[in-house]
Amino acid sequence: MPIKYLGSKRRLVPVLGALCSASGARTVLDLFTGTTRVAQACKRRGATVTAVDTARYSEVFARCYVETDAASIDLDALETELARLDGLPGRPGYFTETFCVTSRYLRPENGERVDVIRDAIQLDHAGSWLEPLLLTSLIEAADRVDSTTGVQMAYLKQWAPRAANRLTLRVPELLAGPGRAVRADAREVAADLGPFDFAYLDPPYNQHRYFTNYHVWETLVAWDAPKHYGVACKRVDARDASTKSAFNRKREMPAALRECVEAVDARLLVLSYNDESWIALEDLADMCASRGHAEVLAFDTKRYVGAQIGIHNPQGEKVGSVSHLRNTEYLLVCGERPEVERAIEASEAICTT
Ligand SMILES: C[S@@+](CC[C@H](N)C(=O)[O-])C[C@H]1O[C@@H](n2cnc3c(N)ncnc32)[C@H](O)[C@@H]1O
Repeated sequence: MPIKYLGSKRRLVPVLGALCSASGARTVLDLFTGTTRVAQACKRRGATVTAVDTARYSEVFARCYVETDAASIDLDALETELARLDGLPGRPGYFTETFCVTSRYLRPENGERVDVIRDAIQLDHAGSWLEPLLLTSLIEAADRVDSTTGVQMAYLKQWAPRAANRLTLRVPELLAGPGRAVRADAREVAADLGPFDFAYLDPPYNQHRYFTNYHVWETLVAWDAPKHYGVACKRVDARDASTKSAFNRKREMPAALRECVEAVDARLLVLSYNDESWIALEDLADMCASRGHAEVLAFDTKRYVGAQIGIHNPQGEKVGSVSHLRNTEYLLVCGERPEVERAIEASEAICTT
């Protein structure tokens, strides 16, 4: 089961990979990388990828899947250490108390295992090449047994059946080749990272903040036992301006996005968009005009799982229903006209299946 992430482009990955290959890209920028799924697809196709995001956990994923070269690490050492950590007996600490007793992200027996494993990573591996690999394995293991609908703003009233499974560490599926992980605000770094052959931009388009929706992962990485508030036990710094994104503010988002679209140095730029966004598709196309020709590809896709099962209040009770279950995802492909047309033509077989 792939990791649960709002706006994850899992379904569009084959198309994005095809566009990347069709453009002959050797260098790729994934500017809002999230799970790094798209960055991984491009790396798998031989590109050197730079993956950018503001989230701590996303930097960890990028250091694991994008920056780590599978061909140059000691896989035995990784497997041995994961097996040792996996075998440690649980011990309750901040994580268990906060996310398994005060709130219900994991069952306490799994929370105790998170506490002991995360303490051991801190003690034995802080700053080492193994650290992002072990942390990624731990976050993915927690995600497989969590009791959420895919976001961490509220937990299910009844434990999810998967929560009864034992939290188990697995070896992340690493990729060969070089790459770069950058934790930064896209607006601040967009102009200075290139040049690139291919850039993919997949920003948030509405008020749903990643910092609060994935606050448990932020805390798992920071391991700073923050004070918390609300039924979901969110980090108190979720209230700080420094943890808020211009892309989650209706008035600021269009200008922030325009800044990035104009600043990125790339031959071909692909922008993700969906029809639940604050901005109109025509305005987005207009924004891309500065880059030359723009074509729009549309995909009907299932909405994220939280919406599919209804609207819940913080107690996990269903308080409304969802107006529609399907939405449309768009990819705007921009650059010099022949290049755009060539890339689209070469990826067409996949787009139409
Ligand atoms: C729609 S998600 C990207 C999903 C990703 N393409 C995937 O498949 O997993 C948007 C991402 O933008 C990040 N983000 C929000 N504001 C940002 C900013 N100002 N600079 C860089 N990243 C930002 C969020 O942390 C989130 O991971």
